[in-house]
Amino acid sequence: MQAVIRSVDCAIPQRRMSNEEFTAILDTSDEWIHSHTGIRYRHIADPDQAPSDLALEACQKVLSRAAVPPDEVDLILVATATGDYLGFPSVACIVQDRLGAKRAGAMDLAAGCTGFIYGLETARNFVLGGGARNVLVVGAEVLSRIVDWQDRNTCVLFGDGAGAALVSASEDARDGSGRPRGLLASVLRADGSGAHLLERPMGGTRAPFDPENFDRTSACLRMDGRQVYNFAVKAIAEGIPEMLAANGFGIDDVAWIVPHQANVRIIEAAAKRAKIPLEKYYLNIEEYANTSAASIPIALTEMDSKGLLREGDLVATFGFGAGLTWGGNLLRW
Ligand code: UT7
Repeated sequence: MQAVIRSVDCAIPQRRMSNEEFTAILDTSDEWIHSHTGIRYRHIADPDQAPSDLALEACQKVLSRAAVPPDEVDLILVATATGDYLGFPSVACIVQDRLGAKRAGAMDLAAGCTGFIYGLETARNFVLGGGARNVLVVGAEVLSRIVDWQDRNTCVLFGDGAGAALVSASEDARDGSGRPRGLLASVLRADGSGAHLLERPMGGTRAPFDPENFDRTSACLRMDGRQVYNFAVKAIAEGIPEMLAANGFGIDDVAWIVPHQANVRIIEAAAKRAKIPLEKYYLNIEEYANTSAASIPIALTEMDSKGLLREGDLVATFGFGAGLTWGGNLLRW
């Protein structure tokens, strides 16, 4: 039995915001943002759009592309840090209902920007264990609603969007050379000692919203950018070669590395440190900024639509983010 990605697709909000637009509200510039991050644009959800709306659109496209009816979906996993509601109900349940996936279980997954990678590995294990034949794995975020629009250190970095993949059971999927296709292996890691480096301090049960003493900035995303940067470079530079070696592959076997898109400089530094050519990494941060759990499925969708992913290609995803979490998936397209 194998777990194969049958289709990928995404949902991108129409409103496209340029770096220039920040100069009207913040002491910043297109030059600073682009030279420090590689970002030029981000897409911003409409006021009436929540992650479930974007996730639903991505799921509908994915199912229609694979010609799988919603009632054949067994499980919906939505990786998100910006759920429609605080804690519950889950985004996945809202999607399940609106999709008409009457036989599906549904749950959200909190692993920060590594969420989609955790989701793919969870789906693989459900499929290999016989618990599900069709799993929708989604990354969906509306980060524009939790960033502090007065903090130039963070608000310029993030964007909104969703991406989804249909992971299905296959008895014997092989490429033209007879090699097994699908999700081959993953590495999932966490280090909660760095939890404070990327957090949204207020609004949970440890520090509930207090209308009497409301501190607006504590209800927003906070990040120690420098520390997260250092962690991310190390995670990718060491994690990708380790994941490949653990599965008997070298970098020359890999057609594409699809990294979480947080900052192009993180990828450049990690590529240099690991001595992996930058051309192996697919980068689209310029258009979308950091969409957290959505960034990898959005990148896979773009690559697929450009014809960059060919059957038999070995693809390595790798991500890092809040938790702290990091990890990657190895898959034969
Ligand atoms: O998905 C995972 C989560 N996020 C990340 O992976 C992000 C990780 N961190 C980073 O990507 C980088 O650390 C940042 C992009 C956040 C910051 O880049 P940097 O090159 O490390 O800048 P810095 O923090 O060292 O700041 C340099 C200067 C500071 O000014 P002073 O204190 O030296 O006067 C900042 O205030 O740049 C200033 N600055 C800005 N200036 C103009 C910070 N943000 C801006 C801005 N426009 N938007």
